[in-house]
Amino acid sequence: MLSEKDFTSTITDYNVEKASFQWSSPSNIALVKYWGKKDNQIPANPSISFTLNNCKTITKFDIQQTNDGNFTFELLFEGKPKPEFNKKVNQFFLRIEQYCSYINYFHFVIDTQNTFPHSSGIASSASGMAALAMNIMSLEKALNPDMTDEFFYKKASFLARLGSGSACRSIKGNVVVWGKHDEIANSSDEFGVEFPSQLHENFKNYQDTILLVDKGEKQVSSTVGHDLMHNHPFAKQRFDQAHENLSAIKTVLENGNLDEFIKIVESEALTLHAMMMTSMPYFILMKPNTLEIINRIWSFRSKTGSKVCFTLDAGANVHVLFPEREKEEVSKFIDNELSAYCKNNEFIKDQVGLGAFQLTS
Ligand code: PMV
Repeated sequence: MLSEKDFTSTITDYNVEKASFQWSSPSNIALVKYWGKKDNQIPANPSISFTLNNCKTITKFDIQQTNDGNFTFELLFEGKPKPEFNKKVNQFFLRIEQYCSYINYFHFVIDTQNTFPHSSGIASSASGMAALAMNIMSLEKALNPDMTDEFFYKKASFLARLGSGSACRSIKGNVVVWGKHDEIANSSDEFGVEFPSQLHENFKNYQDTILLVDKGEKQVSSTVGHDLMHNHPFAKQRFDQAHENLSAIKTVLENGNLDEFIKIVESEALTLHAMMMTSMPYFILMKPNTLEIINRIWSFRSKTGSKVCFTLDAGANVHVLFPEREKEEVSKFIDNELSAYCKNNEFIKDQVGLGAFQLTS
């Protein structure tokens, strides 16, 4: 099985003068959440996510060989310079440098854009870091054409993880597990792996409508939140629970039991926020409208028998999850009832997708 030691590039022949690549990488939504990490974005517990289809980052690399011995880059957002993003990209390059020493012989012009509205409160770090990692791997493949597909995607996920933990789940597959778990073959703390079992029909094209409750900057970043899990009074119980919930959801994704799915997914969302509320210092990312939406989903479910449920990210927005066969009824419910609790009535319709794709540049 591949692991960290296999990912250090030994390329010394930089026989690519110029190249262009372009990749589209999606966002993902965790069902069992990653919250808490060790050094180098090693997760404190395993997590599992649905890959999204419509919320994506599209990133183009124009690469030119140099003799500098140090990587250099220009960063454009939607074709225009965006100095605010330089720090994050620079940090990503510094983190991957020991595994991709060839980057020091190139200049990169990076042009990136998101398909979801800017400042929608949707984290672009997962899709953004995944798109950077895919482009880097295209360069590595150009330098080393014999690389296998398995290595290409595993190392891409490994590099994306170094950029932003959950980004490693945005590379390949509709359901992705990240973090070592006894019941998931070949699972690893270092990169994401495709869910190894056959996914039950009920989850094919599963729908995720993202209700934009709060579009502002988060008051507390994920980095700070992860850190607060060190010395957290409930950390051990939480990490153990994530292992148990991953075992339980594995069975559910195989047997299609939607009632069990709802229990695990909603409990995970509320547990994530409970960890925030019980950190020291404590914080709350949910807004009054987040709770309104949750209550309305619960009452719609008990009135209609629908299998709609919610999950939350590290923010106030609500992901409304439902089977494809309920698309019509739940869309009406969202239009008629839930959209009123969104900023400017805005929401994004998405569904489970397959991962990153190379675009012709
Ligand atoms: O990848 P990060 O460091 O932005 O952390 C993301 C954490 C959650 O989105 C809250 C949960 C998850 O597993 O995606």
